[in-house]
Amino acid sequence: MNRHLISAADLSRQDALDILDTAEELAGLAGRQIPKLPTLRGRTVVNLFYEDSTRTRTSFEVAAKRLSADVINFSAKGSSVAKGESLKDTALTLQAMGADAVVIRHGASGAPHRLARWVAGSVINAGDGTHEHPTQALLDAFTIRRRLGRVDGLRVAIVGDVLHSRVARSNVWLLHTLGAKVTLVAPPTLLPVAVGSWPCATSYDLPAVLPVSDVVMMLRVQRERMADAYFPSVREYSRRYGLDADRLALLPGHAIVMHPGPMNRGVEIAADVADSPRSTVVEQVANGVAVRMAVLYLLLGGGTAGAATGDDRG
Ligand code: NCD
Repeated sequence: MNRHLISAADLSRQDALDILDTAEELAGLAGRQIPKLPTLRGRTVVNLFYEDSTRTRTSFEVAAKRLSADVINFSAKGSSVAKGESLKDTALTLQAMGADAVVIRHGASGAPHRLARWVAGSVINAGDGTHEHPTQALLDAFTIRRRLGRVDGLRVAIVGDVLHSRVARSNVWLLHTLGAKVTLVAPPTLLPVAVGSWPCATSYDLPAVLPVSDVVMMLRVQRERMADAYFPSVREYSRRYGLDADRLALLPGHAIVMHPGPMNRGVEIAADVADSPRSTVVEQVANGVAVRMAVLYLLLGGGTAGAATGDDRG
């Protein structure tokens, strides 16, 4: 495994399976009386968040703390970043403090890649611009595997604002690596030009894709990243690409509905669909902690599944 986790495309099938298997073991920890392991005692994990985040930041924080690491939350607001400090200078400061891992979320695609050149510790990409969000893809794969027993051979539809979605990009690569067949479903204006070179199919027709999907992953319409009009109206978007109860009924009986959050209820997903038993939204959040523990453990602690919850308790 690499020292850093910057792109899901960098993960080999074996790397991805090691992370999922380790996460599976670590997930059992949540049920213990003291849900904590000493594995990363004395190590420092810095959460460096330049963009707003609720679940991803807290998820990394809980994950690091369950492994007994020291956690420093460094948000752009209220730090010297607000005074105009460059990413490089911030990186050198973190380096001087001896950060063993830096978890970074940044509005610019490629920021984690740059950071990795300036710090000695591991860099984990928690979302960079419209580029990638690899731990989200890992927790999604973990959730699919738990619900449906496997990822290999499954048909996954990823629906909506693919153009602005780092979640979609990371999922296309990871799910492909794990043997799933991915179809992106979106209006032509919300599909990136480069999509032709990605390992997936595309469609503009949601009702046609739903009956042949095992998993449907709805994406948030990212209005904060839209400078222009990409569709005539929210109502029109919702009518063609939203998932409501009628559309849900087109899915095979075993199929699940996913969403990375935050959801625009009533836009890409109807409230009753989001809250239905087929929705995995809440599980995805819970699984995020176990998956991020596995990533921190494997990048910082070393070892493979089996050792994670075993004899290294001290
Ligand atoms: C996503 C993100 O920030 O990329 N959310 C998340 O991490 N759970 C998706 C989104 O913002 O729509």
